[in-house]
Amino acid sequence: MSQQFHRAIVVGGSSGIGRELVLQLAASGCQVASVARRSEPQGEGIKTYVHDVTDFDTIPALFQQLCLELGGLDLIVYASGVMPAVGPDEFCFAKDKQMVDVNILGAVAWLNEAAQRFGQAGGGTIVGIGSVAGERGRAPKPVYGATKAFFECYLESLRNRVGTKGVKVVTIKPGPTDTPMATDHVGKKLPAAEAARQILVAARAGKRVAYIPWKMALAFFLIRRLPSPIMQRLKF
Ligand SMILES: NC(=O)c1ccc[n+]([C@@H]2O[C@H](COP(=O)([O-])OP(=O)(O)OC[C@H]3O[C@@H](n4cnc5c(N)ncnc54)[C@H](OP(=O)(O)O)[C@@H]3O)[C@@H](O)[C@H]2O)c1
Repeated sequence: MSQQFHRAIVVGGSSGIGRELVLQLAASGCQVASVARRSEPQGEGIKTYVHDVTDFDTIPALFQQLCLELGGLDLIVYASGVMPAVGPDEFCFAKDKQMVDVNILGAVAWLNEAAQRFGQAGGGTIVGIGSVAGERGRAPKPVYGATKAFFECYLESLRNRVGTKGVKVVTIKPGPTDTPMATDHVGKKLPAAEAARQILVAARAGKRVAYIPWKMALAFFLIRRLPSPIMQRLKF
C-alpha cells in the first residue's frame, strides 16, 4: 500500500536530488524541513534550516527541534553527500575525511536519532540515498565508493533493528543523475526530478532497496559478478 507522508525532514535539501525531493514532497501537501549549509528560498510547506552535518554535536537537539516545529515526523531522508574530484594518482586524506564525515558520520548521527524515535513510536520511514558506487571497489573513487558501501550496510542493520517495530528503512541506489555532483560524468544521466519521483514511489511503497532507475539493478547484477582481475583492468 502506498503511504502518504505528512511531515518530513530532508537532510541535504538545498541541491540536486534532495532539492527535488523537498519540492515534490511539498507539492504533495507534506510539511518539509529542508536542512543544508545553503539556505534555499522557502516555499509553501517548506522551511529551511542552515546546518553543517559535520557539526555532529548539534544534531540531537536540532532533530528534536525540527520534530517539534513540524508537529511530528513520518519521513526522514538523508541525501547529503560529497564526491570531490580525485586524480588517478592522488591520495588526499583531507578529501577522504570530508567524504567519511559527510557521507557516513553525518548520516549515522541523523539516522540514529530517527531510528530511535521511530522505533519507540512503532512507525516511520527512513530513506538513505546511497549509490551504485558502493557495489564494487572502483579505481577512480576509492573512498566515495567505500562510504556508500558502509551506508548500505548501516541501513540494512537499521532495518534489521527497527523493521520489526513497524519502521521502514529504504536504501536508494541511484545511477548517474543530473545534479551539480555529477557534472564531470559524460554518459547518460537521469534528470534529478525523475530520480526524486522514483525515490518517492519506492519510499511510499516501503521498499527495502531501490535502484534508480531500475535498469541499474540488472547492470550491477552483472558488475557484482565480474572477477577481480577484470575489475582491475576496467577504468570505469
Ligand atoms: N548525482 C549522481 O549521479 C548520484 C549518483 C548516486 C548517488 N548520489 C548521491 O545522491 C545524494 C545527493 O547528491 P546530488 O547528486 O543531489 O548532489 P548535490 O546536488 O551536490 O547535493 C548534495 C547535497 O549534500 C549537501 N551537503 C554536502 N555537504 C554537506 C554538509 N557538510 N552539511 C550539510 N549538507 C551537506 C549539499 O548541501 P549544502 O552544500 O548546501 O550543504 C546538497 O544539498 C548524495 O548522497 C550522492 O552521493 C548521486
